[in-house]
Amino acid sequence: GGADQKGPVFLKEPTNRIDFSNSTGAEIECKASGNPMPEIIWIRSDGTAVGDVPGLRQISSDGKLVFPPFRAEDYRQEVHAQVYACLARNQFGSIISRDVHVRAVVNQFYGADILMEYVIRGNAAVLKCSIPSFVADFVRVESWIDEEGTELRPSENYDGKYLVLPSGELHIREVGPEDGYKSYQCRTKHRLTGETRLSATKGRLVITEPVGSVRPKVNPQDKHQFIDVELASSYSLLCMAQSYPTPSFRWYKFIEGTTRKQAVVLNDRVKQVSGTLIIKDAVVEDSGKYLCVVNNSVGGESVETVLTVTAPLSAKIDPPTQTVDFGRPAVFTCQYTGNPIKTVSWMKDGKAIGHSEPVLRIESVKKEDKGMYQCFVRNDQESAEASAELKLGG
Ligand SMILES: *[C@@H]1O[C@H](CO)[C@@H](O)[C@H](O)[C@H]1NC(C)=O
Ligand SMILES: *[C@@H]1O[C@H](CO)[C@@H](O)[C@H](O)[C@H]1NC(C)=O
Repeated sequence: GGADQKGPVFLKEPTNRIDFSNSTGAEIECKASGNPMPEIIWIRSDGTAVGDVPGLRQISSDGKLVFPPFRAEDYRQEVHAQVYACLARNQFGSIISRDVHVRAVVNQFYGADILMEYVIRGNAAVLKCSIPSFVADFVRVESWIDEEGTELRPSENYDGKYLVLPSGELHIREVGPEDGYKSYQCRTKHRLTGETRLSATKGRLVITEPVGSVRPKVNPQDKHQFIDVELASSYSLLCMAQSYPTPSFRWYKFIEGTTRKQAVVLNDRVKQVSGTLIIKDAVVEDSGKYLCVVNNSVGGESVETVLTVTAPLSAKIDPPTQTVDFGRPAVFTCQYTGNPIKTVSWMKDGKAIGHSEPVLRIESVKKEDKGMYQCFVRNDQESAEASAELKLGG
């Protein structure tokens, strides 16, 4: 083969997640270069080729995977909630894109609810805007509105009575008897349709007067939490406990792989408001296990939170091409970034080769070793791939 002949390389690889509304539909592009020009085939995660489903899924002449707008009753799970990938191939080999999680969402009415919250006077309260699970991935809290129509938005002013946390809860500090007469609604926004909506119900606080001392109490479902947040975002870690006298809250972080813990240092980036820790510009090093210890004069409680800061995955193979003589060794190294990385795997020409180390070494290159090699890195949410070509020398 001439030097200008080469295996496929992706020019435009689809993203990990494609969410779309039944009213808009979606088109997913996949482009590859190579010589000769590679053909594009869409496949499922089991490797089988995807075909047309009239009115619901087509492959356009230029290789796009197209989902036209559809009526609610035409929703089909195997079409509209599926993991796809695109495969590019020519005579020198095949490569497969990252996994593309496609999800169509039928516009459905939803109503957010706010539960009544019982608070002992003097403690902080957190009101939650509870969004039905079938839309929770697409809907987030924009603001809260009190009974006088005042709109409260997320802000970095942590000194006031009210604070809308990055995760959307309304934090109210030092609750007094007068707070029992107020009510609150949350305003939510749907990311696919852009529609905003007020909660169906109004939330309020029920203030209780302490009778004697009360030990700090945490609801059992709030004692262990798992939170995933994106790199560079703002987030909050809650420690929902109440007591009388009002408690002190101390935050610790476990040193990875040990049972030893260190106090969380508060600074410009890390703030504490009553029991809540508010952190902006998340970094991967924030990941880990946190403990909030709550004490007053009559007792103590603790809340454990496991935080994962996710960073987009990406991969690269070094070298991107190599020409190796028959019988000589070849080495490919997969370099990757992102968090968390759960698995590393390799493929040759679109087939798994059962290797899961970052370095792939072929001791003595044979004719059938030539072709396209790929490394994939994955976690539960996403995947990334890189490809490289092995050519045979003289
Ligand atoms: C999408 O579904 C909604 C809810 O059933 C419906 O009102 C709307 O007309 C649908 N869109 C299309 C293009 O059929
Ligand atoms: C505070 O509460 C924790 C957790 O229950 C407990 O282990 C600890 O002894 C308490 N500390 C004080 C000073 O009371």
